[in-house]
Amino acid sequence: MSTFWSWYITLLTVGTLIALFWLIFATRKSETHKSETDQTMGHAFDGIEEYDNPLPKWWFMLFVGTIVFSIAYLVLYPGLGNWKGILPGYEGGWTQIKQWQHEVDKADELYGPIFAKYAAMPLEDVAKDEQALKMGGRIFASNCSVCHGSDAKGGYGFPNLTDNDWLYGGDPQTIKTTLLYGRQAVMPAWKDSIGEEGIRNVAGYIRTFSGLKNPQTTKVDLAAGQSIYAANCSVCHGAEGKGQQAMGAPNLTDKVWLYGSSFTQVQQTLRYGRNGMMPAQEAFLGNDKVHLLAAYVLSLSQNQQSTVAQ
Ligand code: HEC
Ligand code: HEC
Repeated sequence: MSTFWSWYITLLTVGTLIALFWLIFATRKSETHKSETDQTMGHAFDGIEEYDNPLPKWWFMLFVGTIVFSIAYLVLYPGLGNWKGILPGYEGGWTQIKQWQHEVDKADELYGPIFAKYAAMPLEDVAKDEQALKMGGRIFASNCSVCHGSDAKGGYGFPNLTDNDWLYGGDPQTIKTTLLYGRQAVMPAWKDSIGEEGIRNVAGYIRTFSGLKNPQTTKVDLAAGQSIYAANCSVCHGAEGKGQQAMGAPNLTDKVWLYGSSFTQVQQTLRYGRNGMMPAQEAFLGNDKVHLLAAYVLSLSQNQQSTVAQ
């Protein structure tokens, strides 16, 4: 803030405080006729008259208290123009960010050793530790459930983490890698290269992988779809459509669909492509918390070891 505005605000604030202080004392009715007076304000309404008594002392002191509070506040905290405040424990003045950092430091000091203990254990063991799973569950609730749902079952565009069906792989280390570094899926858009007809045919073709019936009303050339698939799609999704975890290309033969299985939705996926993004957590949560989270995610699907969601 420029010096001019800093002084402008400071003088305005201090001036107002002084004026308020003056006002409350100047208009205060003397305490000498302390008890009830027989003087009235001189007006009456329906026989009710207003007495001219001083403010009760506690009420008056409350006003004084608010002024004293504001002076103390403006000395300790930033408020007067460029004044930074002299709150103890805040080098260079209090800020919300510094206060937050203080709280994080305190929590890290308190819980850091517990996180470190689990971080040194193999993920499989952490995934069996009840306290660790509780902690992981809480980290999940505050950082992951916005996208994957509080029950981790995902939703449109956000994978279900409980079904033991994986885009990138469900072994402990792969899950941790996914969390630490994030994932960026690249499913290209096809509308320019294979055209509407090509999209219709290949969409119809891949839907047969999982036994879906194509609508009678639309003409789908499965043979044409098959050759488009072989030429364009198998490189990522595999010759049999079973997917490829190294690049997050989903298995197209199961009944798990991230973007919907209807003929319309599949065509939409092909027309414009899809780019699901899992944000990296390394810089944000740090290795130790990610370790707990990975164990938590692992435990979710272990409960359903053999079932792939249908
Ligand atoms: C901004 C939304 C968002 C947040 C927040 C988010 N994720 Fe994700 N996550 C995604 C998306 C989208 C994908 C799928 C990426 C893709 O399409 O390839 C994904 C993928 C994953 C995968 C891989 C699943 C598989 O099948 O291989 C795991 C595991 C995962 N997330 C766990 C987490 C955890 C744990 C957190 C909490 C730190 C989290 N995610 C936070 C959006 C999010
Ligand atoms: C460069 C590799 C690559 C190629 C080539 C590719 N895909 Fe994909 N495809 C992906 C990836 C990665 C995803 C996951 C996108 C995401 O998670 O956001 C995907 C997603 C899909 C989905 C969505 C599946 C779901 O669960 O909703 C369909 C359908 C699909 N691809 C079909 C095709 C077809 C058909 C072709 C050929 C015309 C093709 N793909 C070519 C990588 C590829």
